[in-house]
Parts: sequence; structure tokens; C-alpha cells
Amino acid sequence: MADFAKLSIEGQTYTLPIIEGTAGQKAIDIRNLLKETGYITLDSGYMNTGSCISNITYLDGAKGILDYRGYAIEDLADNCFFIEVAYLILNGELPNFDQLEQFKRDMRRFALIHEDMIHFFDHFPPNASPMSILSTMVGTLHNFYPEMDEEDDPYGGLTVATARLLSKIRTIAAFSYKKSIGHPLVYPNAKLNYVQNFLNMMFDRPNIPYIIKPEVASALNKLLILHADHEQNCSTSTVRLVGSAGGNLYASISAGVNALWGPLHGGANQAVVEMLELIYADDRDFDKYIRKAKDKNDPFRLSGFGHRVYKTFDPRAKIIKEACDHVLRALEVEDPLLDIARELEERVSNDDYFISRNLYPNVDFYSGIIYRAIGIPTNMFTVMFALGRIPGWIAQWNEMKQDQDQKIGRPRQVYTGYTRRKFIPMHQRA
Ligand code: CMC
Repeated sequence: MADFAKLSIEGQTYTLPIIEGTAGQKAIDIRNLLKETGYITLDSGYMNTGSCISNITYLDGAKGILDYRGYAIEDLADNCFFIEVAYLILNGELPNFDQLEQFKRDMRRFALIHEDMIHFFDHFPPNASPMSILSTMVGTLHNFYPEMDEEDDPYGGLTVATARLLSKIRTIAAFSYKKSIGHPLVYPNAKLNYVQNFLNMMFDRPNIPYIIKPEVASALNKLLILHADHEQNCSTSTVRLVGSAGGNLYASISAGVNALWGPLHGGANQAVVEMLELIYADDRDFDKYIRKAKDKNDPFRLSGFGHRVYKTFDPRAKIIKEACDHVLRALEVEDPLLDIARELEERVSNDDYFISRNLYPNVDFYSGIIYRAIGIPTNMFTVMFALGRIPGWIAQWNEMKQDQDQKIGRPRQVYTGYTRRKFIPMHQRA
């Protein structure tokens, strides 16, 4: 491989270093481009721009490979607890038995939120979006827990603030749901594990105890693992960008929650189910919606299809599709939306428009059907994505902070507005 690239501008040739990642990804290092040439690069949407060097997650979009810290997503989803994968992503290595036990203890230790925070929930309007509640409450954690590293770091690289955020976010998510339906809050139960505790806080009611079915806990565990990190996507890049200005962990993650919200990103899981409901209610008129998705004058897109990086089946979607069949069978749930989803996928997979653009189902296509089956309301789907993504956001934030070469994130632009012109006093303006 060449160790530099040549760039010729106005008769002058510049050499740019090439760097290679451990899995063979090659990058032209343009960090000194402006200084040396006076030129910037233009790459809206960052289609070709590497914003950092990272050793957390590897994905190969052409082959459909996704690894966390070198471990295949398939192995982790089949064999681990979410909290174990969170530890891996945050610390770099899988925990041994004692480390995992300590981590579980801390998840229990930090599960409560300050009682004063609970008053906040009372003042959102009844139909407030759970995503806006989540971002607000995560941001305000800073007011209640301002110390970031106040105790000895028990994990080697993983701060108490990290464990606190990972644990508290599920309490916040569950409380926001209970408040939205006007039910009394269910506090964390130290006898339950991370996922069980979340389910119990969501669904337990006075005099109607919630029985946690193993199939439900296992499906949710898998979904959280599959969402745990996905390298430099929109929300993760937002977390890094906010952190690069010195923003605290909670502020950065709160910004990440907001970035995730959009229907092109994490909000797609909600948009998928709404789209499937639309097709169902419209007498299963698949042709109409496929036609709309292909029409350049129509903003409608098939939610749950396509990905910036994957140009083949999203490996997470493969696992979720199987899990979906399993959960619905185990819970004896018949959901007509699953049939609609299967038929839509079948039609799309035989349609030249989608084939030629490599548009396959992504992580969001089948996940909503599982959430529905286990009782999660549609407006909480993206909160579930955020819950899963927390370890990734924190790990990426930590990595960014530890990078000696990290600078404040500050892109350039190509300006196309007016050049300097004469000021017009008010009385002369048209
Ligand atoms: N339905 C119809 N056409 C599509 C779709 C879709 N879902 N996705 C992409 N296209 C077309 C697009 O119109 C364009 O066509 P053309 O080349 O003729 O202009 C071509 O495919 C390339 O699309 P793009 O918008 O340039 O691709 P992108 O990499 O900028 O966007 C995406 C990626 C995920 C935003 C897009 O595929 C999309 O909008 N999908 C639907 C929303 C969705 O499911 N998002 C969840 C992504 S996975 C979760 C996550 O990690 O965020």
C-alpha cells in the first residue's frame, strides 16, 4: 500500500499521509491540508470524512459485519447480558465474574434518582414526548450529581458518573412512561437484574404485579445489546462534538438523545410501525407506498430501509428478525404488522429501485414489532434505542476526552452569500 497520496492543485503537488486501521480501512490524512494548501474539503453529511480514530466498534458495511471491541455482535447477542456488553464497550474487555458482580452491584446502587428530580416529571404536559423528557432529565442529572470522578475509579477507566448514568437512565425512562399514563411510579427493585428491573418499573402496578416472562427479558436484553454502539453515527458524533467543547458528560449525552430522535436515525423504529399501520389500514396497498417511496417529488420514504454504511443486510436486522419470530411465537402474540413487514420486505427485495440502491432492512425495521409484543408503547420506541445506545455514547465520549490530539469540533464551510456591501440606513430601505 502507498503510504501517501498525491494532490495536485494549481500546478503544485502535495503529499498527504495515508493511515490504515487494524481491519484494513484506509484514510487520507488531511489534518494539515488547509495549512499547507489553503484549501478545505467539502463533504456535507460527512459521507467520506473520518472524524476520529477509535478502537471501540468496527463495522464493514459491504460485508454486513459489526464487532464491539473485536467481538462479533452475533456472539455477544447470543451469550451476554446487556450489562456485560456495556462493560465491554466501556472498558475494552469482557468482565470476569467478580468484575461483572461489582458492576451489577453498582447498577443497583445507582438505580434511584434524587426525589427532587421526580417533581420535574409532574410539570411536563400530559402528551409530552418521552424523548424530550429523557433529554431534559439526562441534562439535569448534572445539577443533582455534578461530581464526575468523586470516588476511586473501581473499574479502571470507567468512572462512577458512567455507572450512575447507565443505571439512572433506565429509571428515568420508566418513570417518564408511568407519568405519561398517570400511574404511580414503581421504584427500582434491588432483587432484579438490569433488564428485569426496567420491565418491572414500566409495567408493575399496585395490586397487579407484573410477572417478568423470561422470553420478554431475553428479547429486550438482545435488543439493547444490538443497539449498544454503532461508531460515528449522527447521535454519537453529536455526543463527541458537544464533549469536544468541554461540555460535561450529561450535557453531551442529552444532546445525543436529541440527535437520535429524528426519523432518519433512531426515530425510524417508531416511524416503521406507524408506516406498517398505515399500510394495514389502507387495505394492504403495498404498491401505493412503494410507489410513493420511489417518487422523487414525494418526501415519503420506506422507514426501516437503507443505511448510510450498510450496503447489504444490516447484521442487527438479521438477528432482530429471528428474535421477532421467536418472541411472538413464545408469547403467542399474533400481530398482523409482522405479516405486513414480511410482505413489504419481500416486495422490496424484488424491486429494482431498492436493489440498485442497496436498500435492505435496517435495525429499526423489525425491532418495533418486538417492542409492541412486549408491551412497550410506540412513543417509547426511540427511548428504548437510547437506553441501548448509552454505553456506546459514554465510551465514545470517554475516548474523545482521552485523545491527546482532540480539538474542539469545528467544521469549515464554503460561503456563497453576498460579499461585503454598503450598509443601508432604515430610511433608505425598500
Ligand atoms: N426509501 C426510499 N428510498 C430510499 C430510502 C428509503 N428508505 N433510503 C434511501 N433511499 C434512496 C434515496 O432516495 C437515494 O435515491 P437516489 O440515489 O435516486 O437519489 C438513495 O436511496 C440513497 O439515499 P440517501 O438518502 O442518499 O442515503 P443516505 O446514506 O444519505 O441515507 C438513510 C441513509 C438511513 C437516512 C436513508 O436510507 C433513509 O432515509 N432510510 C429511512 C430511515 C431509516 O430507516 N433510518 C434508520 C437508519 S438505521 C438506524 C440508525 O443507525 O440510525
